[in-house]
Amino acid sequence: MKVVSVVGARPQLVKLAPIAAAFAQTDHEHVIVHTGQHYDANLSDVFFSGLGIPAPDVHLGIGSGSHGAQTGGVLAAIDPVLAEGAPDWVLVYGDTNSTLAGALSAVKQHIRVAHLEAGLRSFNRRMPEEHNRVLTDHCADLLLAPTEEAVRHLAAEGLAERTVLAGDVMVDVCLRIRDAVLSGQHPRPALPEGIDPDAPYLLATLHRAENTDDPVRLAALLAALAELPVPVALLAHPRLLARADHFGLKVGQGAVHVGQPLGYTGLIAAVLGSVGVVTDSGGLQKEAYLLGRACTTLRSETEWVETLAYGWNRLVPDPAALGSAQWVATATRTAPEADRGTPYGDGHAAERVVRILAEHLG
Ligand code: UD1
Repeated sequence: MKVVSVVGARPQLVKLAPIAAAFAQTDHEHVIVHTGQHYDANLSDVFFSGLGIPAPDVHLGIGSGSHGAQTGGVLAAIDPVLAEGAPDWVLVYGDTNSTLAGALSAVKQHIRVAHLEAGLRSFNRRMPEEHNRVLTDHCADLLLAPTEEAVRHLAAEGLAERTVLAGDVMVDVCLRIRDAVLSGQHPRPALPEGIDPDAPYLLATLHRAENTDDPVRLAALLAALAELPVPVALLAHPRLLARADHFGLKVGQGAVHVGQPLGYTGLIAAVLGSVGVVTDSGGLQKEAYLLGRACTTLRSETEWVETLAYGWNRLVPDPAALGSAQWVATATRTAPEADRGTPYGDGHAAERVVRILAEHLG
């Protein structure tokens, strides 16, 4: 069996790591196509080196642009790559513009498409990711759902026949790296200047279009982080810095200490060293949950609804609306004691994905 993985943005590289490792244990041929959606070294290269992913076989070099330019650029560039490679499967990951472009190119060339992390829904049509997910799910041949909730969403959209519950490959990589960090195999992460790794700190990220593209909203979120009584280590995605700069907003104010995004090992170590997480990232909500840290999510909904159980994760779309005291109490609350169970699977999802692809060749 020959499988082409199409990746391009940071979270896809994290998911690629366990998949590439699972393929390496088999005789199947696995080809990696990097669209180039993320090109900064600390959004891309560090994941390949840090997670031991083989270098991409093909790099499309698409880069940034409007949604149309980015999606269309990948689509045009990947067509001949898939035509020439003629794989048995194209595997697309998550919900970025690269996901949708990879799926569209494959399906129009009658190459089977499998969607990893199928069935997630925010039901928020303002999110570019929601369109990418829905469209990808509806054109793909095989839907690899990470959770039972995702299976239900796909069934509700008439896609049950193409759906298989595979579990979440993020668990595979997160738990492996957690164990390596806890056994002292990695140096301490490069936290932002001014953060004492031995004193309590909150770990924060902010990058979603709906939080960064509106100057009033972005200013309010930065002010809310600034007023927290605990130092905030803000790992700034280039999009956040670009938008704040464009709007003339200062990112590092009050409690906030701004640093670079971290590689995956550094991120896991930074979560483990923190007293809690404040974020709008999908992946980080789940990493906080898997690592036993309370998470405050700066959005009105989450695709990872399982994290909300027992208050492990709380949604705060508008900190100002909550009032200062309530916002501070929420963001600085300690982790609940409740058992989290294993709603995201057992840490062996990637091997299962490879097996499912082989079984569904017919
Ligand atoms: C993309 C995904 C989002 C995912 C995120 C993870 C889409 C629609 N969004 O958002 O779902 O959560 O990746 O990080 O696909 N930039 C750089 N260097 C880079 C990449 C981006 O400076 O290597 C800056 C540019 O100003 C660019 C902006 O970030 O215009 C946005 O990048 P883009 O790839 O369009 O989306 P992300 O915000 O990274």
